[in-house]
Amino acid sequence: MHRLVFRLPEMDEQPAPIVIVVLGPPGAGKGTQSSLLANLLRIPHISIGNLLRWHARDESEVGVRLRGMMALGQLVPDTLVLDVLATRMSEPDCTRGLILDGFPRTLKQAELLERGLLKSPFYANNLGENLVALHLRVQQDTIVGRLSGRRICSRCSATYHLESQPPRVTGECDFDGSALTIREDDRKATVLKRLQIYERETAPILSHYVDKASLLEVDGEQSKENIAQEIVTAIQGILRASIAGAKNIQSTLEDNL
Ligand code: AP5
Ligand code: MG
Repeated sequence: MHRLVFRLPEMDEQPAPIVIVVLGPPGAGKGTQSSLLANLLRIPHISIGNLLRWHARDESEVGVRLRGMMALGQLVPDTLVLDVLATRMSEPDCTRGLILDGFPRTLKQAELLERGLLKSPFYANNLGENLVALHLRVQQDTIVGRLSGRRICSRCSATYHLESQPPRVTGECDFDGSALTIREDDRKATVLKRLQIYERETAPILSHYVDKASLLEVDGEQSKENIAQEIVTAIQGILRASIAGAKNIQSTLEDNL
């Protein structure tokens, strides 16, 4: 039986850390926005896709299986996802909060996350304020354009786009100079398959979050800077309204804006 482990601060040490889950179809900009928000909020960006891709490089039986499933755009079994995620979430940097990019992707995963959070008195008292679900809405045409132009760094996974976010030197990562590559699952047929899976498995989570969390609906067609600004403003509003406060994050935001 899997469970998600949270390292939490002592009760009177700081307010409840915020957990932001970023939802949206492939290419919606989940990774792009999570990375911007992580810098602003100074909380870790946990991309399940990146963690799984890292494990998929392995030549072990699990690595080969993972590669196959991900290349076809299929969801990876929960046992594997939860193993990888629980390991990362038990690291000390998660005590101030975290951004989950790509998890949950099914109602079952959403329930597992809540069950993990509700074990803590921090969340049991006000899950609605401290669990924020962010939904990036984009049209299918936009998705296809974004994913066909996407390039990622083979070493650090930094994301680029041939038109909207080109690297300084063609084909090389700005941060470490490594070669930029095309993700195996960004081929058009696989993108369409991923979209179908998103509609069937993940989209139903949105109505679930209307009851269980603060759901932020964001127009993902705007420039990435405008989207980030809209999200930050909305999160500030939620934090102000929160009974617990989350002063650390609030002051970090104010310092950075
Ligand atoms: P994952 O890596 O999470 O893929 P995804 O959900 O399909 O999303 P993408 O990473 O493709 O898109 P994104 O929304 O992050 O967009 P990005 O910011 O890069 O998952 C991959 C696979 O792992 C899954 O298919 C599955 O196999 C497995 N998996 C993952 N989680 C799982 C789970 N919980 N359970 C089971 N299996 C799981 O942006 C895209 C492009 O657009 C970039 O080039 C970017 O520069 C550009 N861009 C972004 N924003 C803008 C903007 N506002 N304007 C213009 N361009 C923009
Ligand atoms: Mg991504």
